[in-house]
Amino acid sequence: MIDDTQLEQISTAKQRVSQTERIVPAFDYLDGFQLQRSKILEAIARVLDSGTLILGPEVTAFENEFAQYVNCKHAIGVSSGTDALVVALRVLDIGSGHEVITVANGPVPTIAAIRAVGATPRFIDVDPNNLQMDPQLVSQAITSATRCVLPIHMYGSPAPVFCIEKICREHGLALVEDCAQAHGTIVGDQHAGTIGKIGCFSFYPTKNLGGFGDGGMCVTEDPILAARMREQRCYGFRNDRVAHVEGLNCRLDELQAACLRVRLEYLPTSIAVRRQIAFYYQEQLACLDLQMPLIPSCGESSWHQFVVRFSRRDAWIQWFAKQQISVGIHYEHPVHLMPAYLRIAGGPDALPITEQVCKEVISLPIFPELRRDDMARVCQALRSGVEAGLT
Ligand SMILES: Cc1ncc(COP(=O)(O)O)c(C=O)c1O
Repeated sequence: MIDDTQLEQISTAKQRVSQTERIVPAFDYLDGFQLQRSKILEAIARVLDSGTLILGPEVTAFENEFAQYVNCKHAIGVSSGTDALVVALRVLDIGSGHEVITVANGPVPTIAAIRAVGATPRFIDVDPNNLQMDPQLVSQAITSATRCVLPIHMYGSPAPVFCIEKICREHGLALVEDCAQAHGTIVGDQHAGTIGKIGCFSFYPTKNLGGFGDGGMCVTEDPILAARMREQRCYGFRNDRVAHVEGLNCRLDELQAACLRVRLEYLPTSIAVRRQIAFYYQEQLACLDLQMPLIPSCGESSWHQFVVRFSRRDAWIQWFAKQQISVGIHYEHPVHLMPAYLRIAGGPDALPITEQVCKEVISLPIFPELRRDDMARVCQALRSGVEAGLT
């Protein structure tokens, strides 16, 4: 029989093991969920008890609240960030034979959306200082087939959309902002997504405003585009069951909308916490010789990711793994070099900066639930790595 002293010894030993073995997660929403749990469960029950699961009062309320948050007239809930981009491109009449200027250091969905409407991505390189679309390269990429410029606010940092918008205006092109990583990002004194014709957001669970499944939103100031996007997300219907135009089924559902309304209440706080974590990393790591992310001068980052560049990335990945720290890579494979897009995208060396940064980037853990001792472990791992001569 185990006595009390032995029990205590086991539990102390267990604690020690769990302390040394605890993996610092790259993302974990569970602590935050515990704080919001009763409100989320209440929201789910409200929807289930209401008898309305599709395009009901929760979607309408969430659209109004989100529009108010980004300070924009219209918000249209859709089923994912990818669908938000597809719907945006469709209502701008972008399709087969058209080119869309974009970047290749982001994720696949942006390009998948361009291809889904039958258009061709025309990739340009990024600015090596901030890893955002280089506005200097936009004009020279414009051809007679160009209809749209689609920058991504990478990592929640503001892309130079005011410069790009000016070029778009001069050439009669549509600017669509990919804001999937940029809820709470400020450009000038506006929210990302409100500078171009349409801003497209994702509510994928890891995003700044993450749901409990898939979801997305288009925002616009233009009432005609807004009405067309509402048609597009539901078979081309207006307030009838008649297809006035060829449309899709990509509606945000009531359950996600109800949960996202709760999450939206906490968004300003969670962005503030992300900024605090970024500030902590900047302060703690300032004395190390690292290629830290640039602090934007044209607005304010929402710090969706905190991306550091390392010339010996593989060694650093192993180093972090040894210290039980999960890190991310956003993104490892430039989209223009992926097999699916090689044929349309110009092949290797087309985008030298993109190709270089994709070999170097590591995203440190940053999410509102990240514990302070985990932040300290990340910084300690970087200090000891530098001391060990890894840079
Ligand atoms: C920049 C960017 N665009 C588009 C998307 C697509 O969003 P979703 O996963 O909701 O379709 C994502 C998310 O992965 C993203 O990061």
